[in-house]
Amino acid sequence: MVFSLVNNQEKKYTTKIQSITNFSNLSVEMREAADLIKSNEVVAFPTETVYGLGANAFSAEAVSKIFQAKGRPADNPIIVHVFSYEMFIQVTSEIARLDLVKKLQKRFWPGPLTLIVQKSNQVPYITTGNLETVAVRMPNNPIALALIRESNLPIAAPSANISGSPSPTTALDVFEDMNGKIPLIIDGGKSEIGLESTVLDISNPVKKPIILRPGKITQSEIEECLGTEVEIFDISTLKTGNGEVKARSPGMKYRHYAPKAEVELLSDFNSFKAMFNEKRMKKDKIGLILDNKYLSRLKTESLLASDVQLYHYSTLEEFASNLYFKLREMDKKQVSVIIILFNETTGIGKAIQNRLLKASTKK
Ligand code: TXA
Ligand code: MG
Repeated sequence: MVFSLVNNQEKKYTTKIQSITNFSNLSVEMREAADLIKSNEVVAFPTETVYGLGANAFSAEAVSKIFQAKGRPADNPIIVHVFSYEMFIQVTSEIARLDLVKKLQKRFWPGPLTLIVQKSNQVPYITTGNLETVAVRMPNNPIALALIRESNLPIAAPSANISGSPSPTTALDVFEDMNGKIPLIIDGGKSEIGLESTVLDISNPVKKPIILRPGKITQSEIEECLGTEVEIFDISTLKTGNGEVKARSPGMKYRHYAPKAEVELLSDFNSFKAMFNEKRMKKDKIGLILDNKYLSRLKTESLLASDVQLYHYSTLEEFASNLYFKLREMDKKQVSVIIILFNETTGIGKAIQNRLLKASTKK
C-alpha cells in the first residue's frame, strides 16, 4: 500500500514544453507529438477553448493514462476530438438524427460545440465512462487539428488540469498541474475563448436536444441553426431533497473549475460589498472580480485596500478568456477568498455563470 503511494508521487516523465510554429507541413516537432500519441502516451495540446490532455481514444491503455495524470473519477467520460467527418463516423454508430448532426457540424465545426451521440464498438468504455454514448468535437485550432491529422487517430482529451481545478489556458498552467506526469506539452499561446465547449446531447431520438454544459455557442444559436427547441440543463436545479446532486452528465456532480481559495459569488453590488466588508473584518486575504462599470463605486466608497487582488473586465468575452487564468493567479498570490460579482446570462455570460456556480460550490 505504502509502496503504491510512493510510486504515484514519483515523477514518471521529464515534461517538455514545445512550441510548434510549423504545423502546415509535417515538422519534426509535430512528428514527435504524433508519434507519442501513436505509441499510447499522453500529450497536452492547445485548443480554442482550453488546453486538452490528449491520448488515443481507441486505446484503453492510453486513455487510462489520462485518468491517472488528472486524478479523474472513472465515471467521468472524455470528449473525443476528430479531424474530419470520416473520423467522426469511425467513433459513432447509428446516428439517429443525422439531419441534426449535419446541420450542427456544417454551422459550428470546427468549433466549440461537443455532440453526444451513440458510440461505435471501436471506442472503449473507459473513454465514455461506461456509457453507450460518446462526446465528439472538432476543435478550431490549427495545432490541435494537425496533431489529430498526423497521428491519424481520434484523440480523447479532457481539459489538462488536475481534476476539479480551473482549466488551463496557457502551456505554463498545464505544466503546473502536469509536470512529471506526461512527456510533452505543446505550447500554442493563450487559449482564445478560455471556457470549455458547449456540450449538446442529441443521442436520444425521442427527446429534444439538450445542452448539458453551456459554452460560447449559445442555446439560441443552436435553436436558430436547427429550427427546433433546445433545452438547457440548469445546474441550479441539480440538488435533490437530500442534498445530493442529480447528474445528467457525469461531470456535473463534482466541484469543478475551482481554485484553492474559497469562492463567494454574489449577484448584486450591495451584497458583494457586504461580503467584502465581512471578509476584511476577518483579515482574510481577498481577491475581487467584477465588471469595470462597478469600479468607480468601489473606489468612491474607498473600499479598495492595497493588499486586495483585483481583476476587472470590460466585456464578457474578455472575462471568459481570463477567468481561469485569474483564478490560478490569485491562488499563487495566496488569497484565502475570491469574491465575485456576476449576474449576466446573455451570450457567453450563461457559460461564465455556470462555471462560477460550480467553482463556488462548497467543498
Ligand atoms: O472545450 C472542451 O470541451 C475541452 C477541450 C480540451 O476540448 N474539453 C473538456 O473536457 O472540457 P472535460 O473532460 O473537461 O469535460 C467534458 C464534459 C464533462 O462534463 C463530461 O461529463 C461530459 O463532457 N461528457 C463527456 N462524454 C459524455 C457523455 N457520453 N454523456 C454525457 N456527458 C459527457
Ligand atoms: Mg474539465
